[in-house]
Amino acid sequence: MPIEKVAVAGCGLMGSGIAQVCAQAGFPTVVCEVNEALLQKGMKSIEKNLDRQVEKGTLGEAGRTATLARLKGTTKVADLAGADLVIEAIIELLPAKREFWSALDPLCSQQAIFASNTSSLSITEMAAATARPQRFVGLHFFNPVPVMKLVEVIRTIATEPGVFEEVHAFAQRLGKTPVRTSDRTGFIVNRLLVPYLLDAVRALEEGVASIEDIDNSMKLGCGHPMGPLTLLDFVGLDTTYYIANIMFDEFREKRFAAPPLLKRMVLAGWNGRKSGRGFYDYADAKNPKPVKLG
Ligand code: CAA
Repeated sequence: MPIEKVAVAGCGLMGSGIAQVCAQAGFPTVVCEVNEALLQKGMKSIEKNLDRQVEKGTLGEAGRTATLARLKGTTKVADLAGADLVIEAIIELLPAKREFWSALDPLCSQQAIFASNTSSLSITEMAAATARPQRFVGLHFFNPVPVMKLVEVIRTIATEPGVFEEVHAFAQRLGKTPVRTSDRTGFIVNRLLVPYLLDAVRALEEGVASIEDIDNSMKLGCGHPMGPLTLLDFVGLDTTYYIANIMFDEFREKRFAAPPLLKRMVLAGWNGRKSGRGFYDYADAKNPKPVKLG
């Protein structure tokens, strides 16, 4: 049975982006948040993104209206039950995710496929909270979801090959480029990206160069759209620190060890763009200035 109806749990930065691309690709999509205020915030950001596309002429008025008509917001987990595929993008905490999946599992049809958007937690451990580990995969999108083409499709040792291929085909139907990977913490992208980001912080910490010069080096020398410290601000220093700790815990390798400067910045609440300050100060959001680090 091909996937026709989609449900997304979580309407934050990632969940709202995922719900948007599913609805835009033609799938009736239900998206769930824990309360009305968070749901409205997520739905507004979807509308804003669609408006921007209409202004740019990449989406017609009719396409905007049809996308929004395919989207239904809810605060009731039970409303996710009719979907062929449930994509979870709730808080990155394993106990919360396990609790969510074990509550949803008995409400859904046995044929429904479960997918987590986690960037670093174990898919196997989440699948074990359900009675359907063979129909459980990882489906990892990248920020900003409507723009980034990649989706990592992750199998566990229990995932049925047919289920894995169906989710891979679904990602293609979204207009994304899926890659196949297995349940090893960090998958492909974060396994390569996290040590690189941590090395940029180490370079700064060791006085190799300034914030701007490190960023310009990778932008202009390697053609990256953002330098590593700008990207850290964009992803969130707290998020990167959290992922690095999980990866270090799993592999016990120095390359995944968070440098003290990153830890201090997270402790100080300098979490990047979302907190107004990270390696840059976003008081003037259009013209961020490198911060002075003591
Ligand atoms: N939501 C939706 N669309 C957005 C957007 C957002 N938040 N931000 C930018 N866009 C769109 C713009 O509307 C624009 O669209 P068009 O091409 O149709 O005009 C396009 O993206 C380019 O935007 P801009 O011209 O404003 O800016 P830019 O050229 O600097 O691109 C960027 C912005 C796409 C974010 C680019 O800087 C980039 O690719 N940065 C790297 C992002 C990245 O590495 N993401 C992965 C992070 S790691 C992760 O997500 C996984 C994890 O587990 C931590």
